[in-house]
Amino acid sequence: MPLENHGPPDGTEGPQASRVPCVQPAPFLKWAGGKRQLLPELLRRVPSLRSGRYFEPFVGGGALFFALQQRGLLGRRGARLSDINADLINCYLMVRDQVEPLIQLLSRHRNEETYYYAVRAQDPRTLDPVQRAARLIYLNKTCFNGLFRENRHGLFNVPFGHYARPRFCDPEALRAASYALRGVAIEHSSFEEVEELAQPGDFVYFDPPYVPLSRTARFVQYSAGGFGPERQERLARCVATLAARGVSVLVSNSATPLVRGLYAGFLVEEVQANRAINSRGDRRGKVCELLIRAGPHARLAAAARPVAPQGVEPRTLRV
Ligand SMILES: C[S@@+](CC[C@H](N)C(=O)[O-])C[C@H]1O[C@@H](n2cnc3c(N)ncnc32)[C@H](O)[C@@H]1O
Repeated sequence: MPLENHGPPDGTEGPQASRVPCVQPAPFLKWAGGKRQLLPELLRRVPSLRSGRYFEPFVGGGALFFALQQRGLLGRRGARLSDINADLINCYLMVRDQVEPLIQLLSRHRNEETYYYAVRAQDPRTLDPVQRAARLIYLNKTCFNGLFRENRHGLFNVPFGHYARPRFCDPEALRAASYALRGVAIEHSSFEEVEELAQPGDFVYFDPPYVPLSRTARFVQYSAGGFGPERQERLARCVATLAARGVSVLVSNSATPLVRGLYAGFLVEEVQANRAINSRGDRRGKVCELLIRAGPHARLAAAARPVAPQGVEPRTLRV
């Protein structure tokens, strides 16, 4: 098993945030599929983490992680955050371990169109890790709609956003995020690794790229690899393995026949989420999404329900 990356020990002096920040920790990036809107529904379905570890293998903006941290709901055994996007993970590592140099670099960026396109044109591989993290945060906050999108060649291709005062350098917010990430394991890896790592009593929140709602919509391309039906099936097998081991699992995904089929027999619930409903992202509406629970916390919840979901008898639930 690879050594886990938890960063410098707590309390060390250096570029890490070492003083208790005065603002609450929150996501420092705006991420496609971010879960702020769904937080009340998600928080209601998180089991007690007093003796278990928290895993978020599709971390993106990390909305649930920061919400749990804010409320003091992460237990002594801490958390492991991971994602397949190497630039994103580098950003988390730099926020955790190099927040002061990162703030300095960000403060030198400018909200100007020509400057934006010059930064966008940089090849991230030629930058050092702190410069790369500053570039990602700057582009994310100043680009159109705050979306991270790469083309087929893995290049960031979102146009300039023309915002009056985008907050790409917010020192207190970054220090608060850095403080919240102290001692947290942060890894660049695919979700399958969690299958080996999570133990009975742990809790895993899977927020994968969603199955598209219509046949014409393409499967979301968050990274050059994409996340097609085979990956969704692999994820459902991973959920079943973890649940059978005594790990509590929560999954969010779209309300589609494919997702219902993959998780048939688990505790599947419909929730309403506020989502962008057109490609311009500026019109919002209520969209039905699915939250799926499996493992010990799902068994407890299913036993407490007067009526089983979707007409399934409680005793047939595979939770
Ligand atoms: C729906 S987003 C997660 C959003 C996040 N929960 C939030 O609140 O911002 C899905 C994430 O999955 C990541 N991803 C895609 N394929 C992956 C894989 N095979 N393993 C791990 N992460 C993957 C993407 O890079 C993206 O960050």
